[in-house]
Amino acid sequence: MPQHPYSHYRLRIAQDFIRILVVPNLMLSVVLKLADIHLGFLSIPAYLLCTIVAAFGRDWYDQITQRRAAYQVGGSLVPKVKGKWPGNLDILFRIKNAAHNDYLCQGFLDLFHEYQSTTLNLRILGADLVCTLSMHRYMITMDEEHIKFLSATGFDHFWRGRRQKERMETFLGSGIFNRDDEEWKVHRAMARPFFSRDRVTDFEVFDRHADQALSVISSLASSQAPIEMQDLFARYTLDAAAEALFGEKIDSVNGTLPVPGQTSMSAKGSLTTDEFGAFAQAFEMAQQVIVTRTHEGYFWPAFQLLKDDIQPHVDVIDKWIEPIIARVLANKAQMRKAGLSSQIDSCTFLEYLAENTEDPEIIKDQLLNILLAGRDTTAALLTYVTYMMAMCPDVACKMRAEVLEHIGVHDAPTFEGIKSLRYMHAVINETLRVFPPVPQNIRETRSEPVLLPQSDATFPTPPDAAPIYLPADTPMIYVPMLTQRNPAHWGPDAHVFDPERWLDERLSHFVDNPMIFTPFGAGPRICIGQNYARNEASYFLVRLLQQFDTFTLAPEFQPEGSLPPPSWKQGQGRKTVEQIRPAYALTLYVKGGLWMRLGRAADS
Ligand code: HEM
Ligand SMILES: *[C@@H]1O[C@H](CO)[C@@H](O)[C@H](O)[C@H]1NC(C)=O
Ligand SMILES: *[C@@H]1O[C@H](CO)[C@@H](O)[C@H](O)[C@H]1NC(C)=O
Repeated sequence: MPQHPYSHYRLRIAQDFIRILVVPNLMLSVVLKLADIHLGFLSIPAYLLCTIVAAFGRDWYDQITQRRAAYQVGGSLVPKVKGKWPGNLDILFRIKNAAHNDYLCQGFLDLFHEYQSTTLNLRILGADLVCTLSMHRYMITMDEEHIKFLSATGFDHFWRGRRQKERMETFLGSGIFNRDDEEWKVHRAMARPFFSRDRVTDFEVFDRHADQALSVISSLASSQAPIEMQDLFARYTLDAAAEALFGEKIDSVNGTLPVPGQTSMSAKGSLTTDEFGAFAQAFEMAQQVIVTRTHEGYFWPAFQLLKDDIQPHVDVIDKWIEPIIARVLANKAQMRKAGLSSQIDSCTFLEYLAENTEDPEIIKDQLLNILLAGRDTTAALLTYVTYMMAMCPDVACKMRAEVLEHIGVHDAPTFEGIKSLRYMHAVINETLRVFPPVPQNIRETRSEPVLLPQSDATFPTPPDAAPIYLPADTPMIYVPMLTQRNPAHWGPDAHVFDPERWLDERLSHFVDNPMIFTPFGAGPRICIGQNYARNEASYFLVRLLQQFDTFTLAPEFQPEGSLPPPSWKQGQGRKTVEQIRPAYALTLYVKGGLWMRLGRAADS
């Protein structure tokens, strides 16, 4: 199998090691030799000092070069965060600490306020050493003009970048999420038609799995037992995806569910002893490795020199998925002989892919990437809609009234039925606004520097301010969650969950400037599963509301450490009202899971 450059992470870290440690010290030793100086016991501190001086020297040189380059093209540098410790290490600790203890993205938000700017250069860890360690400048933005530029109008200047690909290569391979340019285009062109149409087959799949999940809820509700809704949605979306994508039954909904009051905290939700099926478990674990790598930062390969931590999980995934792909390809060959082909309206995604390519690797990468893209995101949407239904009983009541009026207590929803649920769409949009399943995302500039348009939406900039200069090969983290909660765009009540803002004159905020609401991204890489996700979530909600009418949180069952700390009450915005802790891995989730009680409707 041909190896992609991104899989050579050991080579990359070795090169950096040479550049940072070996080269300056080699130079020092040559100089000492030529000058015939013997340092004796002082040589260790001398070499250490040399490494540090070289790092700072390179950073200093880099800053000068950047300033000059920016000046030449009439740009200004991204405002820098100025920490107290060298390398802005205090800022790094502050952000890490906020990620553990504070509200989601609060660390970033506080900095944006402190510096009165919606785009910042954090210059973490030698940010002073930034390029020195080729660690990169660490840019963050919540500016909707800049987000528009990097995802749409300035698309060609950016890419997903090599750092992300390096982290994900062994897991996601050549899939749509992990490639740019021509390779990405091929995958996108192949996948898009399948998800861009409303297929009756999809509704049949949703129905089967919603039914199974609801029978689990019913039996728990009838014995007054609480239910971990986040876990249930993870199972529903996995089962539905496995059938729609691979044509396989995983039936994880039937597995052992978390036991109320006996769960401890797992990486995401409540820990269960359930194996979730070998494939599903391996798929989750592989994602977890990527999250760990993200936390370890640029140096993650140093921790995985001897073995790639993803590989054992990939082996399990391959063992499950490869025979399925082989079977479908063999099937296709037989159908060809008989002069038949799969119909896009009724086949699985795998069968559809097999019509387009014979390459099992491409098929596998495509399948896993779509599963990753579509599963946790939709589960997060459902989890947070349900959470908001518990927080705002009047919203749940209104949703239910609409479902009964347009669809009835028993009927299965149709496309037209779901399209007619205006209020439910407003609730879904409002959930996506306040709790976007992908709260932050990342792009990198390519080998050329870029000028970002100047923007003054939030913090006024002088009218003659220069456009912002972004150096080459610079990652930019953008945070739609903060844009979507920004009072400058949404009014002083931006943090309030209010579906009505999608139905009254306040809709004009969004209509006038669609970039202030981008839960599915924007531009050429915009999500291809938006309609699919909206249908899958709506379908479940209709079924749920037909049978249940009371939704209450059960905080007494949340595992230790998963409830908001009392200190949040002194904060601002949603922090003061939240009853759960929103958290972020590759997607948004509820820390410790979402324990709830559901009450059956008398008329169901
Ligand atoms: C509520 C659910 C969902 C949300 C919030 C969501 C959000 C997003 C976002 C923010 C992106 C990133 C765009 C970028 O990097 O610029 C994305 C990409 C993508 N999504 Fe979704 N998504 C959801 C559901 C789905 C589903 C159900 C599918 C497939 C069935 C899907 C397939 C994809 C794919 C394939 C991409 C990559 C597109 C590309 O790179 O060209 N998504 N999605
Ligand atoms: C899961 O439960 C459903 C009905 O509750 C049943 O039809 C299905 O066969 C079960 N699947 C497995 C694998 O036990
Ligand atoms: C929800 O948001 C989408 C944009 O993502 C918009 O097209 C749609 O009109 C909105 N729906 C409602 C009911 O506001």
